[in-house]
Amino acid sequence: MRILVAGGAGYIGSVLVPVLQDHGYDVDVVDLLWFGNHLPEDTRVIQKDLFQLGVAELKPYDQVVFLAGLSNDPMAEYSPALNFIQNGALPSYLAFQAKQAGVKRFVYASSCSVYGYTVNELYDEDAPVTCAYPYGISKLEGENGVLQLQDENFSTIALRQGTVCGHSPRMRFDLIVNTMFKCAIQDGEITVNNPSIWRPLIDVRDTSSAFLRAIQADREISGIFNVAKDNFTVGQVADFVKDEIEACTGKKIGVKIKDVQDFRNYKVTCDRARTYLGFQPEHSITGIVHALHERLENYGDLDQEGYSNIAVFKKLNLGVGG
Ligand SMILES: NC(=O)c1ccc[n+]([C@@H]2O[C@H](COP(=O)([O-])OP(=O)(O)OC[C@H]3O[C@@H](n4cnc5c(N)ncnc54)[C@H](O)[C@@H]3O)[C@@H](O)[C@H]2O)c1
Repeated sequence: MRILVAGGAGYIGSVLVPVLQDHGYDVDVVDLLWFGNHLPEDTRVIQKDLFQLGVAELKPYDQVVFLAGLSNDPMAEYSPALNFIQNGALPSYLAFQAKQAGVKRFVYASSCSVYGYTVNELYDEDAPVTCAYPYGISKLEGENGVLQLQDENFSTIALRQGTVCGHSPRMRFDLIVNTMFKCAIQDGEITVNNPSIWRPLIDVRDTSSAFLRAIQADREISGIFNVAKDNFTVGQVADFVKDEIEACTGKKIGVKIKDVQDFRNYKVTCDRARTYLGFQPEHSITGIVHALHERLENYGDLDQEGYSNIAVFKKLNLGVGG
């Protein structure tokens, strides 16, 4: 089976693409390479804007996996206009072209951030989506654009991922667990802006397995699936990171609690992904932190630009013009 991974050179794609290759899939990556190329050497990587792909370019593929766009709130807020184009219009455009080209399935990397601010409720995929900030709205727009193309010949799947964390060859230290790991190592202290806020979390290997399961799912399966290992308060996450770093280093790690309001607060159930996709996340926060610590020497300066999406985005002048 031939698969196009759109935006496959990013944090998630750099873990997912080798998994797909190991499973015998014939994979091409189209990516602007904002963060370089950390994929296995023999991967076919085309450096191109996905808006330049039309029906002819998409015809060879059985499935398309969409991992592109602006992938966090700081990028979206820095350039709302580009955010809505890349996260709302681009997946809609690409799914439309893919359907015309006869592609059988389009798997879209959505986000649990579409749920916005919820209080003490566990959300499934039928729950209302109430986000009021550029990233969440744009991910929802992308999701809607893709899903409404679904028919008996074109399966569309949106994976609403929790915040992804853990090691990738294209590393990010701007994601909750990874950031706390960085602060604990560098400063001996983790700052928690609001300990009561809930977040679903998922290791990048587990989210990759969710994409694999979506690709392999029965062709009649379509729709939205939450994917996370579990839900945690930010205070809990800090404690897991603190305990594991203390166990790894033998040094005491402090936790500084603040009282900053957050516009995202949600917890989700992943029963649908378990039932219909066979999704089974494996990796705990403790395991994730342990694996990061084992690689510590390879990371070099944890503050280097390449580990922060917004820093690279500003450096490349990508958000200019709104
Ligand atoms: N990382 C997370 O915690 C998380 C959580 C939920 C959802 N998501 C979604 O998953 C997807 C992948 O996330 P990630 O962390 O790997 O992001 P990333 O920023 O590391 O990678 C995105 C990749 O897309 C490429 N790209 C962006 N626009 C492009 C375009 N127009 N044409 C070609 N290439 C383009 C970039 O060069 C980059 O390599 C994103 O859509 C993101 O919104 C991520």
